[in-house]
Amino acid sequence: MEEKQEGQRQEQSTPSLDCVDDYERKARELLSPDNAQYIFSATETETTMTRNLLAFSKYALRRRVFQGIKEVDLSCSYFGGKIKSALPFFPSSINVAPLYQGAIFDILKISENFDIPIFVSHQVIDASIDLLSLPSHVPKTCPLVWQIYLKQNNIDTTLKQVAQAKKAGFKGLALTVDTEWGIKLQNKEEYKLLPSNFLNVTSKEVSRVKKASSLPLIVKGIMAYEDAELAIECGADGIVVSNHGGRTLDHGEASLDVLPEIVKRLKSKKKTRSAEIFFDGGIRRGTDILKALALGARGCLIGRPLFYGLTVARDKGAIAVMEILRDELARAAALTGVRRIESVNSSILRLTTTMINS
Ligand SMILES: Cc1cc2nc3c(=O)[nH]c(=O)nc-3n(C[C@H](O)[C@H](O)[C@H](O)COP(=O)(O)O)c2cc1C
Repeated sequence: MEEKQEGQRQEQSTPSLDCVDDYERKARELLSPDNAQYIFSATETETTMTRNLLAFSKYALRRRVFQGIKEVDLSCSYFGGKIKSALPFFPSSINVAPLYQGAIFDILKISENFDIPIFVSHQVIDASIDLLSLPSHVPKTCPLVWQIYLKQNNIDTTLKQVAQAKKAGFKGLALTVDTEWGIKLQNKEEYKLLPSNFLNVTSKEVSRVKKASSLPLIVKGIMAYEDAELAIECGADGIVVSNHGGRTLDHGEASLDVLPEIVKRLKSKKKTRSAEIFFDGGIRRGTDILKALALGARGCLIGRPLFYGLTVARDKGAIAVMEILRDELARAAALTGVRRIESVNSSILRLTTTMINS
């Protein structure tokens, strides 16, 4: 029997795949057991990951009419215009290397269809990839953000690269701070603990990275307002509210559930007010993006759905996933009376007791 190939091109045979869930189902058929565990699993009982997905259904969208909206302006600007984006969502830093060789370059090809930032995972950099040459692979309209993992043995090299990143063409840095105990993945009886040589990052390292470059610095992996405040006070320009897709702490809170409190606290103080707040965790629909933005996120990061797209049809699959999310978002925004996505607020939401597990 012919072996299933991850990332195989399916132009001829793919039945119509109309939503991220369709891509997920197809990816489950195609992935090897190892890669399926790598992508789909989360820690222990996977309660944190499940909470991420369910949290969106606590909010219903308030339908508006009489608005005459024919087009929605989805563009956004960050860090006083240093990073511009045609969409309020973009590829998260995901280590796509285990999927197939060169998968990162298929992620970078998203930039041929959308003028949006792309977060590049430090984990995809190996001996065959020159980190500082990556910006030359994308058009100037694609601001690359380098996601940094500090490890016990890479601090000096990484700080040197951070100092060169701006000249090389990167437009931002994201320091992931939530993997100090490694990534724990459950799979029925068996579990895997992925490399745990990540540094236990403290405010000292955040300040060191900030001092090494004038690029905007985003701290990724914040789930508590105290840590959000600390990150900004140490010099970070923004945060990603994220629990790493439920891959670190089990029985944790959903990212969406902590977002309003973090937004409220950062906005309430002069010294943290201008921080950019990004969000990820469980986004599978355009309506999920709309809800996160309405709760105060300024941009959303897409993780697992891009793995599904790559698995099904490589760069074409990843681009299709982005298009699906864009179209769903634009439709939901128009029908809730949102003309400009940057001006969305919580008036479009209603807390509901009718929970739908979709
Ligand atoms: C397979 C996989 C690999 C990931 N690799 C990284 C990584 O290299 N760096 C990082 O900061 N986050 C990484 N993440 C976390 C994502 O950036 C993001 O926070 C998470 O996927 C959001 O959850 P969701 O995909 O369920 O929406 C990874 C997540 C997954 C599922």
